[in-house]
Amino acid sequence: MLSNGHADPLHDVSTLPDILLLHCTGGDSELEFLANQGVREQPPLIVCGRDGDTVTMRLAMRAGARDYLTESMPKQDLLNSIQRIRDETARHRHAEHGKLIVVVNGKGGSGASMIATNLAHSLVGDEGNEVTLVDLDLQFGGLCRYLDISPEVGMMQALESATEMDEMSADAYTCRHSSGLKLMAAQSKQPVMPRGVSIERLEALLKVYLSINDFVVVDSPAHLDPATALFFDKADHVFVVVQQSLPHVQDAARLMQILGSELGVSRDRMVVIVNRFTKNAEVEIGDIKKALRLNSVHTVPNHYKLASESINTGVPLADISSSAGLTKSIRRLKDSLVEPDDSPNPTLLERSLPSFLRR
Ligand SMILES: Nc1ncnc2c1ncn2[C@@H]1O[C@H](COP(=O)(O)OP(=O)(O)O)[C@@H](O)[C@H]1O
Ligand SMILES: [Mg+2]
Repeated sequence: MLSNGHADPLHDVSTLPDILLLHCTGGDSELEFLANQGVREQPPLIVCGRDGDTVTMRLAMRAGARDYLTESMPKQDLLNSIQRIRDETARHRHAEHGKLIVVVNGKGGSGASMIATNLAHSLVGDEGNEVTLVDLDLQFGGLCRYLDISPEVGMMQALESATEMDEMSADAYTCRHSSGLKLMAAQSKQPVMPRGVSIERLEALLKVYLSINDFVVVDSPAHLDPATALFFDKADHVFVVVQQSLPHVQDAARLMQILGSELGVSRDRMVVIVNRFTKNAEVEIGDIKKALRLNSVHTVPNHYKLASESINTGVPLADISSSAGLTKSIRRLKDSLVEPDDSPNPTLLERSLPSFLRR
């Protein structure tokens, strides 16, 4: 809410907002200002005007508005409009670098490491995506075992070189799996206290790895410390892995609440994965959705034999059985991340005209 006594709604605004939403109720001096000023960096503009106010609508078009809504339109139209701009901004951002996916459990033993590893493996897929899997459990991390890799280098060496690291040298700090998947090992041989990690260095690392990968998948411990907070904050998606039990759901609810309130991770960036899913469990999917206030969750079926064989032998699920339900559910999760969204956005006129014609 800006009222700066100035025709320019962005006068003296030091940090540009993500979206500028103008509610015009006549005497549209702000909109006129925007329509008449020259080119400048300006956030996407949405204008909400009175029904049938063609003057305001024309001004909105001249001001380069992305959308024009009228007061009688349902709230959902405004939400859709904001969502469209958000998606476009995100797509634009991803054109420059890879997606960051953080997998975390509400409770130890939920299957977060198993899912992170196999999701990352699946993302390499036939497309040959560049994917780096990061083991962020710097104290106890053992993701290398999930892929049968004996790491010579890992996070500690990468952090030491973080300030000189560039796109060319970054891959030297990861270990390559035969599939092409790269692992940033935690190097549990030399356990470190999280407070010994320089966040500036970690941030520099993340930037380089996002620039050379299509996906960076992070297996994160559930506790909040400056290191995990950095990854949660930057994540495009946070996958919270739970199982069908009350303590799991309670812990997940708490984690999601903290992620939201402390780190500003919006709910639409969080995906809940119900692992070891069975139909006849006491806690049903509907209960979980209700408790966590979600419309949907992703399920990964219980398949103890396959999961433990994969973990014990260090062979990814897809290389043991590509047709098992467990493997397929991970593939579905991957598809939800790589599905292209090519549907062209309707123009301002196409979107606004129906509301005028309805009158
Ligand atoms: N979908 C599944 N079905 C059966 N067992 C599973 C499944 N996912 C994980 N497990 C088992 O749960 C255990 C814990 O998995 P792990 O990924 O290490 O959990 P976390 O990282 O959340 O602590 C593993 O021994 C694995 O075999
Ligand atoms: Mg784990």
